[in-house]
Amino acid sequence: MKKLNGNLNIFNLAVFISGRGSNLNSIIKHSLKKKSNYQVKLVISNNKNAKGLTFAKKKGIKNLVIDFTKSKQLIKKIILELNKKDIKLICLAGFMKILPGYFFKLYNGKIINIHPSLLPKYKGLRTHERVILNKEKFTGCTIHYVNRYLDSGKIILQKKIKVKKIDTPETIKKKVLKLEHKMYPEAIEKVLINL
Ligand code: GAR
Repeated sequence: MKKLNGNLNIFNLAVFISGRGSNLNSIIKHSLKKKSNYQVKLVISNNKNAKGLTFAKKKGIKNLVIDFTKSKQLIKKIILELNKKDIKLICLAGFMKILPGYFFKLYNGKIINIHPSLLPKYKGLRTHERVILNKEKFTGCTIHYVNRYLDSGKIILQKKIKVKKIDTPETIKKKVLKLEHKMYPEAIEKVLINL
C-alpha cells in the first residue's frame, strides 16, 4: 500500500483468472481513474491460453501462469509473489479452480469472488440456463468473500435485473456481464475502504 496526497490510500490487488478476462479488464480500467483506491499489481492464471492475460500484458502488469495441480510449488510461488507485491486483496474473476484449504486460512477475509447469479441461488456452473429453465423473474450478480465452500461466503454486493419472457441464456449472460463490469470495481473499493 502506498499513500498519495496524504489522504488517499492506494491498495495493491491480485486478480486470478482462467479465461476471457473481461472482468479483469474492467477492474484494470477502473484502477486507472483518478478516484480509484487500488492498483492491479499481479494477475495469475491457471490457464496459459487465458485470453485475459493479454489485458495484463498490455498494461505491463506482472502476470503468471501457475499449475494449480502441483500444490507445493503453488504455495511457494504464489505466496512469494503476493508478498513481493504487497497484495492486500485477491479478486477471483472467472477463476474456475477451487483453491486449496490452506490458502483460505492464509488469506482469510482477503479473497473475493464474482458469481453471475443471485446467490445463494444457482451456485456453480450453467447459472443462466438454470435461471431460464426455472422461469425466474429476476437474476443478477453477486460479489462475495471466498470461503472453503463453493460460492458460499459472506455477500459484499448484489444487484438484480429482470428476466424478460423473451430472454435466453445468451441474452441474460450479456446483461449480467455488463452489470458485473460495473459492480466488481465498486465492490473492490467497498472492501478496501473497510480493510
Ligand atoms: C463471469 O461471468 C463470472 O461471473 C463467472 O465467469 C465469467 C468470467 O468472465 N464466474 C463464475 O461463474 C464463477 N463461479 P470473464 O473471464 O470475462 O471475466
